[in-house]
Amino acid sequence: MIGELEMAATEIRKNMIKLNNIYNEDCIPFMQKMAEENALVDVIVTSPPYNIGKKYGTYNDNKEKGDYLDGLQEVAVKSLSILKQDGSFFLNVGGRDPFSIVQRFKAAGYELQNTIHWIKSISIDPEDIGRNNGLRDINNNDNISIGHFKPFNSDRYLSDLQEYIFHFTKNGNVKIDKFADGVGVTYQDKSNIKRWERNAKRDRRDRGNVWLIPYPTIQKHRPHLAVFPVKLPQRCIELHGIEPNMLVYDPFMGIGNTALACVRLGVNYIGTEIDAGQISGLTSTTRQPITEYGLTQSNIGHGRNLLGYFNL
Ligand SMILES: C[S@@+](CC[C@H](N)C(=O)[O-])C[C@H]1O[C@@H](n2cnc3c(N)ncnc32)[C@H](O)[C@@H]1O
Repeated sequence: MIGELEMAATEIRKNMIKLNNIYNEDCIPFMQKMAEENALVDVIVTSPPYNIGKKYGTYNDNKEKGDYLDGLQEVAVKSLSILKQDGSFFLNVGGRDPFSIVQRFKAAGYELQNTIHWIKSISIDPEDIGRNNGLRDINNNDNISIGHFKPFNSDRYLSDLQEYIFHFTKNGNVKIDKFADGVGVTYQDKSNIKRWERNAKRDRRDRGNVWLIPYPTIQKHRPHLAVFPVKLPQRCIELHGIEPNMLVYDPFMGIGNTALACVRLGVNYIGTEIDAGQISGLTSTTRQPITEYGLTQSNIGHGRNLLGYFNL
């Protein structure tokens, strides 16, 4: 009898979701499974397909607009059942109509708590650079350009150098860690440290909602067509606040940048990616140290070694 029970328990454990794994599965049924296993997450950070005809492999990125939005609304609805009450959903989207997606997330029951502008590249005219920041060479009248500029071949559209990161929460009232390492910034003019009394104890101010995150220039290869830099999910997780044993989920994991951010931060992750081709570039030779999270008793996930992927 005991033997039978043990066998049943082993069977269940075999099917359990493991931490620090990327699953080659559709995120919708996977989230259902997570909800059934009571696998609640602190942060969801992700970038879904934008429906702009990218060639992903498995996924068709050229859907009828209504079907596309219905699909994302389903993601929103399902995600509500696995997100903790004080959790954060950071949704990175670009494309021509990100606001319809926001409407669908609101219809699903989310509140839009913050709108962050992810800037990939910026050009600053010399007269706007300022005098005291060391950036300006007064003998040079050129503008300064920072970041990775990818020109758009069009006589109608400007080159697209920004995307959104919409921060959704269940009640619009989740406390965030604005001064965390990697989020807060130091004062340029140190006399401001004292002036702004509330933060006077340290040289750290709110970065605000404009984030310049260029693509890293040293990439060996970039097999995926629409990735975000690892710094993006990293900063989102830090902004939510790092807690012991926290869990991060990326439903559209791509080549694994959210997982890499989690490895860097020492937090647990789970990911899903429907296209085996995207995750096949990742190696699984190194076991990342994992922390028990309470999904199962013997939850030894097989972390993937992402660190060799980019030249970090
Ligand atoms: C914009 S990419 C994500 C890129 C990722 N942030 C990165 O940096 O690599 C969107 C990904 O979602 C995947 N995808 C599309 N539908 C999916 C689904 N239902 N479940 C899981 N993954 C899906 C696509 O194959 C694609 O790799």
